[in-house]
Amino acid sequence: MDFFEVLHNRKTTNGPFDPRPVSREHQKMLMEAASRAPSHFNSQPWRFVLLEDKARILEIAEIAGHSMEHLIQAGLFFERYRPYFRFSEAELEARGDGIHFDQLPGPLKPFAKQVMSPTGISIMRSLGVPKMLGKDNKDLVAGSPLILGVMLDKTEYIPGKLSGFYSVFGMGAALENIWLTTHALGMGIQFISTPMEIPESWEKMKSILRVPDNLELMAVYRLGYAKEGNRRPSIDWSSRHRKKLSQYVYRETCETPESDE
Ligand SMILES: Cc1cc2nc3c(=O)[nH]c(=O)nc-3n(C[C@H](O)[C@H](O)[C@H](O)COP(=O)(O)O)c2cc1C
Repeated sequence: MDFFEVLHNRKTTNGPFDPRPVSREHQKMLMEAASRAPSHFNSQPWRFVLLEDKARILEIAEIAGHSMEHLIQAGLFFERYRPYFRFSEAELEARGDGIHFDQLPGPLKPFAKQVMSPTGISIMRSLGVPKMLGKDNKDLVAGSPLILGVMLDKTEYIPGKLSGFYSVFGMGAALENIWLTTHALGMGIQFISTPMEIPESWEKMKSILRVPDNLELMAVYRLGYAKEGNRRPSIDWSSRHRKKLSQYVYRETCETPESDE
């Protein structure tokens, strides 16, 4: 596949995967792609755990579902992420960032903009939206053939120290390599992020993956082969929109935005 095709079409998978297992050959390609990333002094501080065991995946799915339900129920999800939600194509076009919040459950559609207010959140609770979104999240994880845990070596990952910053930087590069490779292999990938926001849930994830004390669990993803014809989920994490050059690039000094021509 052409590199630029892969670069432009990489995306976040927001729906279910094909349930067939990811071949060992492809898993190896993903891990080798990660190791090609740059790292400070070639330290390669990243570590990965690949999980295919159904029983453990179901335990992770349970945690992901519960944490999503809790975050919505407590209003935390919308409180934290409100700045990133866009309510119309026009708003997305103008800003070029954020995700489109247009797939609300039917009865909530007329209240889209108020959905993040205290009244909106109590309407959502009364309609059972937290449970519904929790179940959506749980089902997506449960139906994924492969889970990937991403860790950093704590001798390098020291928050507040330069090597801590460098380690996160390198991990991001490694993850992008994996992300691009999934696309080239006809696969998809998505963050399982809600457990990170609840310390007890994150501890449970560490224990399921048996993360040792010398490693820090940084992120967990679900992966699988892409499946056509998925409907867009209620919260669509994927977006094709991007800022224009003039919105994020400067020329010579930061006083002159780059031209869009
Ligand atoms: C640090 C980081 C955190 C993210 N968190 C989530 C997340 O919690 N759930 C999710 O599904 N996607 C998550 N994403 C994916 C973004 O939502 C996505 O990259 C963005 O909306 C652009 O869409 P695209 O990846 O399809 O191009 C995250 C991406 C990054 C780099």
